[in-house]
Amino acid sequence: KQLTVAIVGATGAVGSKMKEQLIKRKFPIKHIKFLASARSAGKEIEFDDKSYIIEEATPEAFEGVDVALFSAGGSVSAKLAPEAAKRGAVVIDNTSHFRMHPEVPLVVPEVNRGDLAKHNGIIANPNCSTIQMVVALQPIREKFGLSKVLVSTYQAVSGSGVSAIEELRTQSEQWDAGKDVEANILPAKSDKKHYPIARNVLPQIDVFTENGFTYEEMKMINETKKIMHLPELHVAATCVRVPVVSGHSESVYIEVENDATIQDIFNVLKDAPGVVLQDDISQQIYPMPIYVEGEDPVYVGRIRQDLDNKKGFHLWIVSDNLLKGAALNSIQIAEAMLEDNLL
Ligand code: A2P
Repeated sequence: KQLTVAIVGATGAVGSKMKEQLIKRKFPIKHIKFLASARSAGKEIEFDDKSYIIEEATPEAFEGVDVALFSAGGSVSAKLAPEAAKRGAVVIDNTSHFRMHPEVPLVVPEVNRGDLAKHNGIIANPNCSTIQMVVALQPIREKFGLSKVLVSTYQAVSGSGVSAIEELRTQSEQWDAGKDVEANILPAKSDKKHYPIARNVLPQIDVFTENGFTYEEMKMINETKKIMHLPELHVAATCVRVPVVSGHSESVYIEVENDATIQDIFNVLKDAPGVVLQDDISQQIYPMPIYVEGEDPVYVGRIRQDLDNKKGFHLWIVSDNLLKGAALNSIQIAEAMLEDNLL
């Protein structure tokens, strides 16, 4: 079966990776269209060695589209995803807009593929930090149960889009040239103050909610419970932006329900789908973001049993935030839907 595909936000950081993944994974494409803002409409875009013209994302642009991959910001999805669905497209949305909607499946295929069948035209792709964490935790949970997850993240700037990657580059040059460092985007474009990310660490991703956690932290907390079908799971997150271009890292503390040894955790992760175990401290082997850039899997290392709680384990989880955290997971959702006759 050949499908008509649309990428909304085709010129963005995630949109570009979606193009690459569709080619790399040989997604069965009959026709493809590239949608972006009016600013980009009429410009050329390359795909599979051919040149295409970018169109403005409008409701009519979705006529005849089978799958619409959205990554152009929450307000664009809010307005256009229902229009696309109304015209018969299945929307796979990368933004946070629909993720917690009870009618919208929030899916990581390795964890809750079965939820896809309940869709009403829109599927949500989870937050990048959430995806890589649940891929590593699900196999542990299946074997030993899971009662608590405490995570601190070290997130790359590409999660904030092309303009944040550019801001890190410019600020690094300004530092090296001894000039004043200008900050206009991070930690959150819509917030009042901006701080440099070059040579810095920002303990704020997205804006603050009323409870003192940021929206990014609340995404990790709520989405983890929804994807894993564990509404009672104790989850807390501290999300931090670091001056890395691509690859999110996470220090995760978990508590399991049944007795497990460190060897048990190794054994489970060794064979887990989508996971690569990179843990040999005798050889200083552990995952790091510069080495996972461009790679599909979720890498896990630095596994330790807690010294005071035998049911507590510490893990270090790293993955390319634009791939498994975004574009790759979206395409895997589309592939799973094709296989399950949902497209
Ligand atoms: P454009 O390049 O025309 O602004 P990133 O996350 O890397 O910042 O990318 C955001 C993506 O969302 C870009 O492809 C951008 O297109 C697209 N986009 C932004 N605003 C709109 C809009 N109002 N309608 C459609 N696409 C948009």
